[in-house]
Amino acid sequence: MKIWILGAGGQLGGALIDRCSVEKIPFVASKREDIDITDLEALKRMAEKIVCTHIINCAAYTDVDGAEQDEKKAFAVNAQGPENIGIVARENGMHVVQVSTDYVFDGEKEIPYLETDKPNPLGVYGKSKWEGEERLQDQFSSACIVRTSWIFGHQGKNFISSLIKQFQEKDHIHAVEDQVNRATYNRDLAWALVDLCCHSGIFHFANGEPLSRYQIAQDFYKEARARSLPIKCQKISPVSFGVFPVLSPRPVYSVLDTEKVARVLGRKPRLWETVLGEYFDHVSTIY
Ligand SMILES: NC(=O)c1ccc[n+]([C@@H]2O[C@H](COP(=O)([O-])OP(=O)(O)OC[C@H]3O[C@@H](n4cnc5c(N)ncnc54)[C@H](OP(=O)(O)O)[C@@H]3O)[C@@H](O)[C@H]2O)c1
Repeated sequence: MKIWILGAGGQLGGALIDRCSVEKIPFVASKREDIDITDLEALKRMAEKIVCTHIINCAAYTDVDGAEQDEKKAFAVNAQGPENIGIVARENGMHVVQVSTDYVFDGEKEIPYLETDKPNPLGVYGKSKWEGEERLQDQFSSACIVRTSWIFGHQGKNFISSLIKQFQEKDHIHAVEDQVNRATYNRDLAWALVDLCCHSGIFHFANGEPLSRYQIAQDFYKEARARSLPIKCQKISPVSFGVFPVLSPRPVYSVLDTEKVARVLGRKPRLWETVLGEYFDHVSTIY
């Protein structure tokens, strides 16, 4: 196995590089400056040069609100990109794992979303990601598509890194109480993606149990205090998601059901408490 990691400069791509490095799995890591996934000819040239068996595509246009203003770019990267990757994989005998999102769902369901549930994305980002799933499958029917939600980790910008920044800078912060989801530790997802390399079809992967951002903020706060980390924040107040105006509509409940991935991998995604503890074991040094 030799994996071509696309989107290697992002928070998930970075965790994949870590996993492959630790386990000595041969890989080639391409950042956006190395390869633009909207450029089919460039992808073809590189595929011939590097000779890999698998592609894991983490490259995406991930600015959910920005996508509302730059629909063309969102679709180029999130829909045309996976189609290009499907073509290149087929022509070069490689298998593809594509990362997708819970935002393909509208959030109207009141129990976790199954892989068989019909997507109905609310915003441009979700629409472009869903179209990417479909265009990839049209080109490469045995692709593996892994939908995930609320990724956080030590690399890059995510809702946890902005929470920590707020803890450090503000006395009082507000966190949304009425939007519920499962947070996903980038390390755990990277682990699962490599293990799913030999599989086909759609899978849902997310850590722990459904939580609101308010509950997540409280857990982080308690853990940071317990570890005597220097934080300025004294109070967290719950607010409704309507308080923070955003350009893109978002599902209020897009919790993913992970029974299928647990069955196939032979292990359940780790619980929130466990990943929270591990996150803090690694984060203490950046405070
Ligand atoms: N973050 C989340 O909460 C979340 C939730 C559900 C699903 N996902 C999905 O998970 C995957 C990984 O997300 P992430 O959190 O790691 O995102 P990320 O940190 O934003 O990484 C995405 C990477 O893709 C690169 N990229 C953008 N356009 C590209 C292009 N045309 N060609 C090549 N590379 C390009 C970006 O480069 P630049 O930085 O230079 O633009 C960035 O390094 C994505 O498929 C995303 O849709 C994310």
